[in-house]
Amino acid sequence: MVSTQPAGFGPVFDATRQHFLRWTPPLWGPLGAATTEVSAPRVGERVLDVCCGAGSSALTAAVRVGPTGAVDGVDLSTELLDHARTVAARQGLANARFIEADITEYSAERPYDVVQSVFGVFFLQPDMNGAATRLLDLLRPGGRFAATVWAEGSIDEVGAAIFDAVRELRPNLPTSSPVTESAKSLDTEEKLHAWLTQLGLEDVEVTEIPLRVPLPTEEAWSFVLGTGLHALIISLDEDERERVRTRYLEFLVERGITEVRADALVGLGLRP
Ligand SMILES: C[S@@+](CC[C@H](N)C(=O)[O-])C[C@H]1O[C@@H](n2cnc3c(N)ncnc32)[C@H](O)[C@@H]1O
Repeated sequence: MVSTQPAGFGPVFDATRQHFLRWTPPLWGPLGAATTEVSAPRVGERVLDVCCGAGSSALTAAVRVGPTGAVDGVDLSTELLDHARTVAARQGLANARFIEADITEYSAERPYDVVQSVFGVFFLQPDMNGAATRLLDLLRPGGRFAATVWAEGSIDEVGAAIFDAVRELRPNLPTSSPVTESAKSLDTEEKLHAWLTQLGLEDVEVTEIPLRVPLPTEEAWSFVLGTGLHALIISLDEDERERVRTRYLEFLVERGITEVRADALVGLGLRP
């Protein structure tokens, strides 16, 4: 049976590096920038970017807070953090630090003005709510918490195609995972608003970010390799991967899938 988390999220996202970067301009980059528009870090503020990956939202925040501010990006993936550090150095962003750590065990000496997470909170298992409560403790009173999640239906069609392809080899592949269930529990404006309110945040608002990403056949396998979908294939050997790749591409053609629906929701609230 293929576990959806065979090696932990750090190694899974390490393995995505080359392809994750391929999908940064059309996917991770715009959604990270859109999140930072909503969390709106101001000059001089301190920002914690949770599950920062290759740094799309953290780097944008670092530009906004300027040299008198600071951004701490935290992630488990050595490879994605390495890329984020390289870009920060190239852009002269000495105010951005990238820290390899499990965010559920992270603590800080001083509170942050903003805690933001783009496609991160639903990875915080087995207790997403407990982990989010700990993150809010890292905020100063009046500080902003922003969480970006997939809107209902996003990634579903491509996800189903790769899932169905892997299932042909691994009939016992679980139909869901704690990450998927947590993501589904936040995938509408109402659900995300209710979750942030339940966490104790005030003045909660949810912003919809519509996004469609073209998926030409020659790039479609890269999408699996460059996203969390990589978890489904990471434990397959080369021969199995090739069989899955072929079936996945056939499913995309049969189902007429030529783009990825990548609509996101950004929830924002203030710590009382
Ligand atoms: C879908 S990626 C999003 C990355 C980035 N925020 C972006 O939007 O480009 C999810 C990230 O969460 C990280 N992650 C998952 N669980 C984590 C944990 N417990 N602590 C720190 N990072 C974690 C993974 O390593 C991965 O880089």
